[in-house]
Amino acid sequence: MEIEHSNRLIDCLVAEIEQQAGVISFREYMDQVLYRPGLGYYSAGKTKFGGAGDFITAPEISDLFGQTLAKQCESFFQQGCAPNILEFGAGSGRLCAQLLSSLPETESYCIIELSADLRQRQEEFLQQQLPQERYDKLTWLDELPLGFDGIVLANEVLDAMPVHVVSKHQQWQELGVGFDGRRFHWRHYADSSDAVSTIQKIESELEPMPEGYCTEVNLNYKPWLRALQASTQQVVIMMIDYGYQQAQYYHPERREGTLICHYRHRAHPDPLVYPGLQDITAFVDFDAFSVAAIDSGFKIGGFSTQGHFLLANGLLDLAAQTDPQGDTLAQLDIAQQVKTLTLPTEMGEKFKVLCLQKNLSLDFPALASAGLHG
Ligand SMILES: C[S@@+](CC[C@H](N)C(=O)[O-])C[C@H]1O[C@@H](n2cnc3c(N)ncnc32)[C@H](O)[C@@H]1O
Repeated sequence: MEIEHSNRLIDCLVAEIEQQAGVISFREYMDQVLYRPGLGYYSAGKTKFGGAGDFITAPEISDLFGQTLAKQCESFFQQGCAPNILEFGAGSGRLCAQLLSSLPETESYCIIELSADLRQRQEEFLQQQLPQERYDKLTWLDELPLGFDGIVLANEVLDAMPVHVVSKHQQWQELGVGFDGRRFHWRHYADSSDAVSTIQKIESELEPMPEGYCTEVNLNYKPWLRALQASTQQVVIMMIDYGYQQAQYYHPERREGTLICHYRHRAHPDPLVYPGLQDITAFVDFDAFSVAAIDSGFKIGGFSTQGHFLLANGLLDLAAQTDPQGDTLAQLDIAQQVKTLTLPTEMGEKFKVLCLQKNLSLDFPALASAGLHG
């Protein structure tokens, strides 16, 4: 079944590669294997999240994640932000359930989800999880609303957007994907492109990268933020994801970039295998994202590690409140969830929280903004 599914996607990709004289950009490949309607990893029916899937995200690890985020949202609402939430890429719907259960004051909750399959799963899950009057606050949108006021949320969405791959062989070049009759393989794609000029500019501001260096550039930030700028009035954007600032992202020793694939809880670096059956992600470049945000007219509200952000928003108090008296196993389970979300060796430091605001003057005591570009 899985193999048949993957073979159908391979046929489409091979046809596309033949049409484009033997090579498509990696960005195109990643877009197709993740989002091609009915066949891409996120668009087809495979279970992706949690123990039965391929990977696990913070809201799947613990309800405490959403409950703590709700504390931050509550503070935004109290400071004058309109009580509406717009969530991008809601996955299984779990974060939405956690937030709507904790924030009765929310007036509307919209979800923008690229995958028709995930949208259907979200609808079914949330119908089961929420009382009808909370479920009625939900709307799924196919495009951005006009004049939105409130909180925009994206947890692990930017890392799932397709990236360009570039490599340095005396000069920078962009890499693409070809097919040799049996499997996909890396090929030269272009000597000059937006991705090539972007990496040249990044390198000119950092230490030179060594010969053979291979990495990614994400050109989605600007269009995504510009679209948000055009469709919102008074908003705070809360983006949570794993990533680095540029000095770390493009460190000379990170010679093979940050692409990571997940297949049945095994992480590996080869995006050209298991087309349509595995997740592919790239770390977020927080400097590029914040520069794009400022260029698009947003103000940086604050930036911090996930661990710091959750602890500053009262994660430990919430954990103590949910502590099931006397049930030692359940207590250990909660302690483990807190550790996974916050310890530097787990998600605590790799994941960051970046908040932007527009036409609001909110305070972000749980975040600092030192050190970010712009
Ligand atoms: C790694 S999953 C994270 C899911 C969820 N936020 C969570 O934390 O469990 C990435 C999600 O982003 C969605 N996605 C990717 N690009 C998107 C875009 N441009 N607009 C809306 N959703 C997008 C995917 O379909 C998927 O639901």
